[in-house]
Amino acid sequence: MNGRYIAFAPLQGYTDAAYRRAHHECVGGVDEYYTPFVRIEKGEVRRKDLRDTDPAANEGVPTVPQVIAAGGDEFARLCDALQGQGWGRIDLNMGCPFPMQVRAGRGSGLLQHPDRLEEILREMQRRPEVTFSVKMRPGQESIDEGLAAMPIVNDMPLVHVTLHPRLGRQQYKGVADKEAFARFMEVCRHPMVYNGDIGEIENGELKVDNCAGAKLKGVMIGRGLLARPWMTGDKGAAQVLQDMHATVYRHAVENLCGDSQILSRLHAFWEYVDLPHKQKKAIMKATSLPRYREAVASAMPVL
Ligand SMILES: Cc1cc2nc3c(=O)[nH]c(=O)nc-3n(C[C@H](O)[C@H](O)[C@H](O)COP(=O)(O)O)c2cc1C
Repeated sequence: MNGRYIAFAPLQGYTDAAYRRAHHECVGGVDEYYTPFVRIEKGEVRRKDLRDTDPAANEGVPTVPQVIAAGGDEFARLCDALQGQGWGRIDLNMGCPFPMQVRAGRGSGLLQHPDRLEEILREMQRRPEVTFSVKMRPGQESIDEGLAAMPIVNDMPLVHVTLHPRLGRQQYKGVADKEAFARFMEVCRHPMVYNGDIGEIENGELKVDNCAGAKLKGVMIGRGLLARPWMTGDKGAAQVLQDMHATVYRHAVENLCGDSQILSRLHAFWEYVDLPHKQKKAIMKATSLPRYREAVASAMPVL
């Protein structure tokens, strides 16, 4: 996979702007960082989401803002908001499996509504100045849904399609279905990016079984990079965690209110990290900042 595109997947609650910056500056080796989805809530584009996509917070970091929409209207409003911030690159989420989003016809639920996909296609065509991509699942209930949506996806002006080959109804259970990925590769006219359960790097080569092929542009990695953020760079685990943690810690202390908010953001930093059980437990159960700092300091030497 050397030389191929590597993306850091969006993970709501984990890969906020401070985390993405920390990774980019301390590790690198990632071509694009996707933001957790920007959404419409109570009729408004969520302010909190727009703070995360604020260009000032992402300066110098190759960032792709992502939106989640139930149809053409929502999609247009979200694009307007992001284009208003100066973005010319937008990713559409057609993979979120959370029941609330799926019921509203968003995320992987959108795959069940070809009419709404058509609306979104038309909105994309109205915005030739924007480079679009989509991140999708093979379907919500069955792979037939995703395959049926492919003619519309093929008509969309996209730089690539990222596919996480688990059905929406599986959420994150079961294994990623590499055969399903191969079937989409056959019918997809756009370059494709593989996403799902990648966490291994051997001799600098990312291992993606059965997913080779000219149309494979690269991979998107989520939980594997949260667990081993050093995976895409040259520095060792301890150095990377120390450097990234310093950035995320400073940002949390400067921007959040009260120890419990700060601790909950910092606990998220460690939640997926590959650490020996004992050290991880001490960090995760710290209920005050001094205790937390002690636990982090004593975890570093064992890394
Ligand atoms: C806690 C959590 C939050 C996520 N948030 C998003 C999101 O905002 N947008 C999105 O497209 N995918 C989201 N995902 C899905 C991931 O981007 C990715 O597709 C999934 O974790 C599979 O890749 P991985 O096995 O490399 O982690 C989320 C996943 C998790 C576990």
